[in-house]
Amino acid sequence: MTAADGRTPFLSAEKAAEVRERFGTPCYVYDRAALEATARRLLGLEVPYGLTLRYAMKANPSRGILQVFRGLGLHVDASSDWEVERALRVGFAPEQILLTSQMPSRRIAEHVARGVLLNACSLHQLESYGQAAPGRPIAVRLNPGLGSGSTKRTNTGGPSSSFGIWHDHLADVQAVARRHRLTVRTVHTHIGSGTDPEVWKRATRMTLDLVAQFPDVATVNLGGGFKVGRMPEEPTVDMGEVATHVRGELEAFRQRDGRALRLEIEPGTYLVARAGAVVATCIDVVDTGRDGYLFAKLDTGMNEVTRPSLYGAQHPIDVLAAGRDPAEVVFVGPCCESGDILTPAPGDPEALGPRWVPRPQIGDLVVVGGAGAYCAAMSTINYNSYPQAPEVMLEPDGTLRLLRKRQSLDQVLANEV
Ligand SMILES: Cc1ncc(COP(=O)(O)O)c(C=O)c1O
Repeated sequence: MTAADGRTPFLSAEKAAEVRERFGTPCYVYDRAALEATARRLLGLEVPYGLTLRYAMKANPSRGILQVFRGLGLHVDASSDWEVERALRVGFAPEQILLTSQMPSRRIAEHVARGVLLNACSLHQLESYGQAAPGRPIAVRLNPGLGSGSTKRTNTGGPSSSFGIWHDHLADVQAVARRHRLTVRTVHTHIGSGTDPEVWKRATRMTLDLVAQFPDVATVNLGGGFKVGRMPEEPTVDMGEVATHVRGELEAFRQRDGRALRLEIEPGTYLVARAGAVVATCIDVVDTGRDGYLFAKLDTGMNEVTRPSLYGAQHPIDVLAAGRDPAEVVFVGPCCESGDILTPAPGDPEALGPRWVPRPQIGDLVVVGGAGAYCAAMSTINYNSYPQAPEVMLEPDGTLRLLRKRQSLDQVLANEV
């Protein structure tokens, strides 16, 4: 694993200033060069019997980003009927889209008619798919009995997780499949986000042991969850090492079972996290006395970058000011919510985690880094009636291209009748 440098290398102070001048703050910025470079690196991973790289679009479903990945030949992991539709509208072929949803699909017949791939995430879903589309190939999401995430809230495996069909229920899976003449072609596991690579490796073996019990499976999908360091002290998983490990496992599986399994992985975070940032403005500076804290209030917070207040997640924050003395600062957002904190203590959304930065002043440009994944996608839009922030693509030639405008008040109110 390697550590991040903690900054937002693609965004110079001049570029951040240009973002503010042209689009206002807060504003998301994505770096096309970084998106492409990461995707190409993953497409080049060496695995023995073929690789499908699915982008977990829940991480960031912006059309601008989906277009980049479609252009490079990635497929899609969609987490709802709505994401399926968004991917289709961007031009992904139906057979490039795998629907893996907690919500039973309400459009099964349509998906089947178009060729969208379905992943049954519960016995109920499997039964519904069987009834709607008997005799079809199918994927099943299994819970291998083991999970790992950056926090408990992003752990999607083991007995505390509702995701997938529990590994002991294989006889039920086989019975439902038999009853509806479904052929299980893909076994899928995804044990969490920000997964410990050692746990992921163990889950790989457990998944292959489950595959062994499905004679028609030709593809194993090992999900996403690959850890990305946003802060200098946070490690990033070495994907080459992951590929080497999986290669060994797939070759060993072939030796004992005879099948050469195609591999699918579906990273979200890994593909986009560090290719995004939020450009913001410091709107106020207050303190709570000598024994208290110095707070910098930004015009961005939980509305655009929800992860810190939700998980205690850490994002690099750069105050773009030269020649200032350093100060220990707690960064907060503009919402009337004491939980609107951008610098909680690591892993503890309730506690404060001040940072040493150039002492902020009102009007300073501030960049919140590591904001490509689960930020625009997971934002608490319109809390306090703040409009949804715009999204901009930084093109490799240095130009800024608007992907999505800032919401207007009329748009905030549009569905009120
Ligand atoms: C089924 C599935 N696949 C892939 C992912 C992507 O995870 P990450 O963004 O951590 O790579 C998720 C995230 O929740 C998921 O639920």
